[in-house]
Amino acid sequence: MSIEIDILSGDAAWPMARPLLETVWPPGAKAPHRRGTSDDEHPTLRVLIESSGELVCHVGITIRIVTWNGRKCQVGGIGGLATRPDGRRRGYGSLALTAAVQTLRDHEAIDCGLAFCDETQAAFFEARGWQRYDGAIVAEQSGSKAPYDELVPMQLDLRRKVRGGTLDLCGSPW
Ligand SMILES: CC(C)(COP(=O)(O)OP(=O)(O)OC[C@H]1O[C@@H](n2cnc3c(N)ncnc32)[C@H](O)[C@@H]1OP(=O)(O)O)[C@@H](O)C(=O)NCCC(=O)NCCS
Repeated sequence: MSIEIDILSGDAAWPMARPLLETVWPPGAKAPHRRGTSDDEHPTLRVLIESSGELVCHVGITIRIVTWNGRKCQVGGIGGLATRPDGRRRGYGSLALTAAVQTLRDHEAIDCGLAFCDETQAAFFEARGWQRYDGAIVAEQSGSKAPYDELVPMQLDLRRKVRGGTLDLCGSPW
């Protein structure tokens, strides 16, 4: 079994990622963390994990300048983490997240990682060095800026320790 990890532009890799993402989050289903997995919202980069030539796992990376307590802060937004249902619990999700975090570290100008997940997935991130962001999140939603508390915000320290206060995503959540 050969494993390949590719990191490609979010736009260019959409046709490759789409079938997997639509299997995990069928179009039209209400799932807040399927953002960034539709035709018109693409992350900056996508990590694709292939096993024996087949795509088994995906995660998107949205690099964005946001504000934290009114000051600019560059975050690496992690979203659309998905493993094919028949490929779970084999380490692909961890591998994809590790590759995404390494990409953020290599970038050198990213202040922190930021992901949004269900309460049930929080432990997955915590076991991999992430922590719950203890402040408030605001984001564009349905055309206006509003508190975003649908999912649990998870934060990973990179250049800065982002704690407390208010993080304004300066756009839609990913
Ligand atoms: C969340 C998700 C991406 C995890 O993907 P995955 O490929 O199963 O992830 P991993 O295999 O790396 O890890 C999953 C668990 O299996 C365990 N595991 C990994 N390899 C294993 C193995 N060989 N045998 C048994 N367990 C194993 C891991 O320890 C991990 O458990 P932990 O979180 O308690 O540490 C996957 O469940 C998924 O696609 N869910 C639906 C979409 C979703 O909710 N995405 C999250 C949005 S934030």
